[in-house]
Amino acid sequence: MKKLIVAIMLVAFAATAAFAADVVTYENKKGTVTFNHKAHGEKNECKVCHGDAAPAKIAIDKKAAHGDACKSCHKAHGGPTGCNDCHVK
Ligand code: HEC
Ligand code: HEC
Ligand code: HEC
Repeated sequence: MKKLIVAIMLVAFAATAAFAADVVTYENKKGTVTFNHKAHGEKNECKVCHGDAAPAKIAIDKKAAHGDACKSCHKAHGGPTGCNDCHVK
């Protein structure tokens, strides 16, 4: 019984982490940016963005987005880098 409870707790924990948010949108004056967290998470290991600690909220502002949090990887790995590739009005 104890084992079963632990198993259920592990599944619940994994589900919470894996289903953090499928899509996050950043509304701003330049045009809404849509970040498909699920798709990015399927193509990249969690730790690429979240580091070695348990994944948690990452603060995204203009500086982060145009740098290490988003655009740097796009530059390196063929993601969108044009303003209107990310910003959609
Ligand atoms: C391409 C980068 C990237 C990858 C890969 C990625 N994440 Fe995230 N994750 C983010 C960003 C950015 C946020 C913050 C989104 C926001 O602004 O709310 C986030 C938020 C989260 C949160 C916090 C949600 C909240 O609002 O509290 C969890 C949990 C999380 N991710 C789990 C994961 C897991 C598990 C994986 C692997 C399956 C993963 N992430 C892969 C970038 C990424
Ligand atoms: C670890 C590398 C990496 C990081 C970090 C990353 N991306 Fe991407 N992204 C990609 C790649 C590569 C693509 C090209 C399409 C593909 O292969 O999925 C992409 C595609 C996209 C697209 C095009 C539509 C789509 O979903 O395919 C948008 C929009 C986007 N990323 C937004 C963001 C935003 C916003 C952030 C930061 C919160 C971010 N990305 C962080 C690698 C990354
Ligand atoms: C990889 C995706 C991506 C690309 C490429 C990108 N941006 Fe952004 N940009 C964002 C995100 C995400 C934010 C943060 C929005 C927020 O703070 O919620 C942002 C914020 C901004 C803001 C702040 C808007 C406000 O309301 O304060 C401006 C202005 C801006 N970007 C202009 C540009 C311009 C100009 C380019 C092209 C040179 C560009 N962006 C390219 C993702 C991107």
